[in-house]
Amino acid sequence: MSPADPAQAAPVLLVEGAGFAYRTADGLLPPVLADLRHRVPAGQMHTVLGPVGAGTSTLCRLVTGLLHDRGETSGTIRVTAPRGDAGTAVMLGDDPEAQLTGMTTRVADELQLPARLHGVSAATARSRAEAAANDLGITDLWDRRVTELSGGQRQLVALAALLGLQPDLLVLDQPGLSLDPTMRGRLSAMLRDYCDAGGAVLVTGHQVDEFATAADQVLALGPSGLASLPLTADAVRAAGVWDARAASAPAPGPTPTAGRRGAPLLAVRGLHAARGDRPVLRGADLDVHAGEVVALMGPNGAGKSTLLRSLLGTLDRRDQVSGTITADGVDLARLPTHERSAHLGWVGQDPGAQLSAPTVRDELMRAAPLPRRPRHVRDEAIREREKQVQQLMRAAGLVEAADEHPFDLDAAQRKDVVIAAALLRRPPVLLLDEPTLGRDAASMSRLVGLIDMQLQRGGGVLATTHDQHWAQAVAHRQLHLDSGRIS
Ligand SMILES: Nc1ncnc2c1ncn2[C@@H]1O[C@H](COP(=O)(O)OP(=O)(O)OP(=O)(O)O)[C@@H](O)[C@H]1O
Ligand SMILES: [Mg+2]
Repeated sequence: MSPADPAQAAPVLLVEGAGFAYRTADGLLPPVLADLRHRVPAGQMHTVLGPVGAGTSTLCRLVTGLLHDRGETSGTIRVTAPRGDAGTAVMLGDDPEAQLTGMTTRVADELQLPARLHGVSAATARSRAEAAANDLGITDLWDRRVTELSGGQRQLVALAALLGLQPDLLVLDQPGLSLDPTMRGRLSAMLRDYCDAGGAVLVTGHQVDEFATAADQVLALGPSGLASLPLTADAVRAAGVWDARAASAPAPGPTPTAGRRGAPLLAVRGLHAARGDRPVLRGADLDVHAGEVVALMGPNGAGKSTLLRSLLGTLDRRDQVSGTITADGVDLARLPTHERSAHLGWVGQDPGAQLSAPTVRDELMRAAPLPRRPRHVRDEAIREREKQVQQLMRAAGLVEAADEHPFDLDAAQRKDVVIAAALLRRPPVLLLDEPTLGRDAASMSRLVGLIDMQLQRGGGVLATTHDQHWAQAVAHRQLHLDSGRIS
């Protein structure tokens, strides 16, 4: 075999009859993956899509060798370098709350850390980091603190840091998760360049996006293994994945409601916000009416999360906010956060910070205060809460996860727990920061179901999203935040 001849060379990734079963304290669970066969040759990018639970994340961990003591592996998985010897594979995980190392303070150091830990010299690690930051258009973040990045900026930094390892196989689990459409396009073009330079890329996820349309092959992962997935509306629907392409077939939206009649539930005027000495919002105006879903879109770092947190009053003490925020005739800007939260139910971009109970059921049971006494009133309130919690867990698809620790759920489910908790407090307006991240088709319709509950009780929703298809299908109005203003 001549490695110079690509037709004869071993594929970078060989998966031959491979499977995996997780082990728990009670023994081996049924296999998540069985008898998979696939090859990714040098120079190609393949995308594997499947609904939540199909095993796409397990596949990523399996091919990067991260699972060996977590259960039983069958078959062959081999990563081969172009010269024919053992190759290297690295993976970007799909948990937006766990992608940075937590070991660095500055972006420049975070970008160089993985390469430095793998024995790359300081000068080479730096030049690779600079090149990756340049390719991804994030050189302006070089001197920033890692704790001061937006969700999308954090995702790009995590990715650029991995690129510094120059692996033979790059495995990316939902790389588009927190990225705006322009960034998703730029990153998929960059991955194509990576392949043209001889690398190989495996992308997995639950959504058809730029990483599927740019791939050499798209596959569906289902109960009978891997099969080619044509990107037609019917095939995508049958695979259970969400079609995030802007021009894809219409998706079911919430039940139509009266919308936009009468005074708005929330009126924001002239909102200015600075994070430290960096101005972010420069006079933003918006309204949310009863029965209305308003989608707030805009590039990574535009200030969408800053805006939602300004409304609630949860920015840092050193951050400056001014403007009026009117709800129910009251200027919320004059109130402390705990009083604003009677009007606004906030579900942050990183839901982990809002979870504190040991199980999903406990989290929801304690979502809103219960009367302490008299005893019979408290008992009755608990029974009523139990009923509401059961109904919400059904709507959010969380019944089977009721006794799980919320941190053991995937990012979209964690967010559903926080949305359900917010609904239990019955705020007039729900503020949802990136509720569409990481969802398959079924999870998207559960989200619409939860939003519907809010609209049917006369509430409104302000949701940030990078998903143009979702915004078209679900939002009554789309607003764009750019350069600190809304249009
Ligand atoms: N804690 C912080 N301190 C200082 N600057 C911050 C902080 N958090 C975010 N920023 C900066 O403020 C700007 C707006 O960030 P924000 O998180 O609001 O953007 P976003 O529109 O929500 O982005 P994304 O789509 O990536 O979530 C960005 O430049 C970001 O780097
Ligand atoms: Mg954000």
